[in-house]
Amino acid sequence: MIDIHSHIIYGVDDGSKDLETSLEMLRLAWEHGTTDIVATPHANGEFTYDPYLNKGRVEQLRAHCGEIQIHTGCDFHLSLENVEDAFQNPAKYTINGHQYLLVEFPDGTLIPNIDSVFEQFLRMRVIPIITHPERNWVIQSNRPKFDAWVELGALVQVTGGSLTGRFGKNAKKFAEDLLNDGLCHFIASDAHDTRDRHPKLRNAHDIVTQKWGEETAETLFTANGRAVIAGEPLPSNGRHQPARKKKRWFFF
Ligand SMILES: [Fe+2]
Repeated sequence: MIDIHSHIIYGVDDGSKDLETSLEMLRLAWEHGTTDIVATPHANGEFTYDPYLNKGRVEQLRAHCGEIQIHTGCDFHLSLENVEDAFQNPAKYTINGHQYLLVEFPDGTLIPNIDSVFEQFLRMRVIPIITHPERNWVIQSNRPKFDAWVELGALVQVTGGSLTGRFGKNAKKFAEDLLNDGLCHFIASDAHDTRDRHPKLRNAHDIVTQKWGEETAETLFTANGRAVIAGEPLPSNGRHQPARKKKRWFFF
């Protein structure tokens, strides 16, 4: 599996607190089937994003972590300051400096001009990946707007823990709706530590395989993520066959 969202770099945000924790997170990820993981520290009002510091720590982790491959990226908060900087220097924030950018919405508010921000990114050939919409109640209550962003070209990452119930019933239900509707492109761990918000994707992978089939699991956990880290277009536009359509076909 390819995990495109994690906080494995120690000492830069609310993720891993020290080198040992980072290495343990990497070990757990590898043991549970992750071959590649993208280190995506926060860039928000609370945590300063320093690509040079991050690069140095990633090099240090690479020297100790065994076979798992570590890639670079950012958990990019959609603030005015960040957006202005990313318009000037997109590769500072994108995954491996290619075209895909994780974007995190603020918790309690909907940014009014977000459509034009996404349009501008897409004009620049930067593809926003909306992180864990299922954990944001503002997005949950503005589903038509969310659908329109995806229609525009934004992609969607659901957190594995949402499918296993870690973030409650609403997040689980919304995550399942997204998969049913073919509006999920990636499932990632958003790991912060070794226990509660761990990097193990195996359980979520099993759930997706069981409910939506092996092909969908392959697309969401592996194939699309592989394209992202390589800077390539998503295979089959990144979509999987919605489960709902299959059922209709069966009954009619
Ligand atoms: Fe995150």
